Amino acid sequence: MASFLWRKKSINDLMMSSSETEKGLKRTLSSTNLVALGIGAIIGAGLFVRTAAAAAQNAGPSVTLGFIVAAIGCGLAGLCYAELSSSIPISGSAYTYSYATMGEFIAWIIGWDLILEYAVGAATVGIAWSEYLNNLLVNVLHWQAIPYQWCHSPFEMSTTGIHGMVNLPAFIIVALLSLLLIKGTQESSLVNGIIVVAKVAIVIMIIVLGWGFINVENHTPYIPPSSTYVDSQNISHNFGGFWGVIGAAGVVFFAFIGFDAVSTAAQEAKNPSKDMPIGILGSLVICTILYILFAHVLTGIGTVEDFRTNGKEASVAFVIHKYMIGYDWLAQLVTIAILAGFSSVILVMLLGQSRVFYSMSLDGLLPKALGEIHPKYKTPYKANLFILVIVGLFAAFIPGDIVGDMTSIGTLFAFMLVCAGVIILRKTNPELPRKFKTPFVPFVPILGILVCFLMILGLGWTNWLRLGVWLLIGLVIYFTYSKNNSKLNK
Ligand code: ALA
Repeated sequence: MASFLWRKKSINDLMMSSSETEKGLKRTLSSTNLVALGIGAIIGAGLFVRTAAAAAQNAGPSVTLGFIVAAIGCGLAGLCYAELSSSIPISGSAYTYSYATMGEFIAWIIGWDLILEYAVGAATVGIAWSEYLNNLLVNVLHWQAIPYQWCHSPFEMSTTGIHGMVNLPAFIIVALLSLLLIKGTQESSLVNGIIVVAKVAIVIMIIVLGWGFINVENHTPYIPPSSTYVDSQNISHNFGGFWGVIGAAGVVFFAFIGFDAVSTAAQEAKNPSKDMPIGILGSLVICTILYILFAHVLTGIGTVEDFRTNGKEASVAFVIHKYMIGYDWLAQLVTIAILAGFSSVILVMLLGQSRVFYSMSLDGLLPKALGEIHPKYKTPYKANLFILVIVGLFAAFIPGDIVGDMTSIGTLFAFMLVCAGVIILRKTNPELPRKFKTPFVPFVPILGILVCFLMILGLGWTNWLRLGVWLLIGLVIYFTYSKNNSKLNK
């Protein structure tokens, strides 16, 4: 086997280049900033859009059990992330860790895979943003909706037979936030802090106020009997039973994506060894509790049929309007908070993506320009502009369900590799100071790998195929460009 595939960056080199590039990026984030960054990245389209999709396609009310499975997978992977990010506090997340532990080839695969997580994930949330923008226009401002063709991808068709053309609002929000990021992380994390508070408040309000509107019939049976559901795009899903719950876990896994984005900001943390584990695990625990309660309330208020038909888009506002009589103000507030909340998610994902590109470009695996820092704003602005284009295209032209599930499957795959990384690094670099240690190694990482793999299985063959094609494209780029330009080649 070609030896370049397994060449590794030494941990010491990594640490040194980290202090070198410190001159580039500013260290401004505290652990509170990081928890806020995490929650900012976490609560978003996964909760407010994908929950209803999972209830409709996979599990009905037992989507709450899906959340538990997904949380277990994330918790296990999170413990692994925390060890790696506290011992290798460098920008670039799972990509950087794997470069030091499993070699360049696996690192490339992860880096390539993280594009699914961050860039495609940002596009997914951009599309969800566009749904709620329409809800704002119609139900809050009482104006007209944006014509269907201008806010849907060409692969979508309305119930009245109109074809989508381009999702303009999704493109615009992505572009605006990319430009904001170029101006600087510090300003953006202040905006983010305000939004996080609003977002958490709205989730709690829905749980508390919605609880009284739960219709027990909608929760009976809690786990629907197994059957097959064919959606409007003619894709069939396992509905109900064990695989329904697992399928739902894969879909709502999207709602947890982002807690690891905290680790990509390690280079900008004031005290990475202490702050990173708090940032990652703290945000995960808070969100899990909120999600389970929220999903329980949402599926108790609306029916599966709602989520398959008229309540498919902007589902939360839809059920409040339809069932919580007298609470229109809540639906309106939710819509505004969600629009702001989604923006903060997109922001963090774009941030994560730009940092991954930045690291990959410093390593020579991607063109040098992506690592250039803006002289005044100190941000990797060319990476941000490049991302604007890629994410914008996904957001404008691909349906939300597809990019959503691609994000889930890509991230699950990256998580599996991160778990493996902990086991490997313990063997290869036992002496490395670890400010945070994953408990019960190798059981926790192995269990993490198994739970993530189970969710990948639950996502079904169309998604396996998409992941396969994506990885294949990545391989072509690696063998034609990256391996020759790698710094380790010189
Ligand atoms: N977890 C993020 C969301 O749900 C990606 O929008």
